[in-house]
Amino acid sequence: MSAKIISGKDIARQIREELKAEVAEMKKDHGVTPGLVTILVGENPASVSYVTAKQKTAHDLGFHSIQDTQPENISEEDLLTIIEQYNRDESIHGILVQLPLPGHIDEKKVLNAIDPDKDVDGFHPVNVGRMVIGERCFLPCTPHGILEMLIRSGVETSGAEVVVVGRSNIVGKPIANLMLQKRAGGNATVTICHTRTKDVAFHTRRADILVVAAGRPKVITADMVKDGVVVIDVGVNRIGKTPEGKAILCGDVDFEGVKEKAAAITPVPGGVGPMTITMLMKNTVQAAKQFAGLA
Ligand code: GUN
Repeated sequence: MSAKIISGKDIARQIREELKAEVAEMKKDHGVTPGLVTILVGENPASVSYVTAKQKTAHDLGFHSIQDTQPENISEEDLLTIIEQYNRDESIHGILVQLPLPGHIDEKKVLNAIDPDKDVDGFHPVNVGRMVIGERCFLPCTPHGILEMLIRSGVETSGAEVVVVGRSNIVGKPIANLMLQKRAGGNATVTICHTRTKDVAFHTRRADILVVAAGRPKVITADMVKDGVVVIDVGVNRIGKTPEGKAILCGDVDFEGVKEKAAAITPVPGGVGPMTITMLMKNTVQAAKQFAGLA
C-alpha cells in the first residue's frame, strides 16, 4: 500500500484563497488592512529565504507589509527600540523577528519586547501561557499549520495515540500540548520522545499519528512505524545542492520507505513548510481583526 499524500502546498493554497477574500472584505467594509513587519538581522541565507517568502505571501494577500532588515552588528538596545516603534505603530498588527538572532543579542529579551497582541509568531510567554490553558491567543505557526492539515485532511485525532518526536519550544512542546487539549485536532493521548528517550522505536511503533520534528534527516525509518500510521514530517534538512546550486531538501522521515506502510504522509518539500507561512498570515489577519474590534 502506498500512502495518501497530505499536500501542505494544496491546503495552504486553499487557506490563502480564504484569507485573500477575507482581507478584501475587511478593506472594503471596514477600511482595515492587515499590517505585518518582518525584522531580519544579518544575512543568514536560510533566514533571508524564509523572510522573502513571508513578505511575498503578505504582499499577494493584499497586506500592508514591511521588510525591515538590520545589520548583523546592530546593538540589542537599538533592536529593542525598533520593536517598541512597531508596537506603537497602528498600521502594524503583526511583528515577526526572524530567528536565530546573532549571538550578542538575547533572543528571550527580544521576543518578550513584542506586544503580545502583535506577536503573530506566538512565541511571547503570554501567548504560550494562554495556549497551554486553552485561552484565545496566537498559536505558533508550525503547530497551528499541523492542526489545520490534520483537520482539513479528515484525520481523526480524538482518542488517537499521538507520538511527537522532538521537544523544541517552536514545534514539539506546543503541538503535543495542542493535541491533548479538548479542541478540533486534539483529544489525543500524547507521548513526547526526545534525545534522552531510551527506545524511540518502542514509542513510534505504537503511534496512530506520528509528528516528527527532530531536526535530523531520515531518523524515522519504515521499521519504526506501524501499518496505517499518519505521518507529519516537520523536518527541513539541506542535504546537498543540485548542479544549479539549488538546495536539496529532505525531511526527518525516510519518506520512500515509510510511505509504503503509512495511511497518509506529508512530503518534504510541499508538506508542513507552506503551512507555516500561511498560518503566519492567518494570525496577522486575526491580529488586525482584534485590533479593529472585528473579532
Ligand atoms: N526561524 C525558524 N522558524 C521560525 C519561525 O517560525 N519564526 C521565526 N520568527 N523565526 C523562525
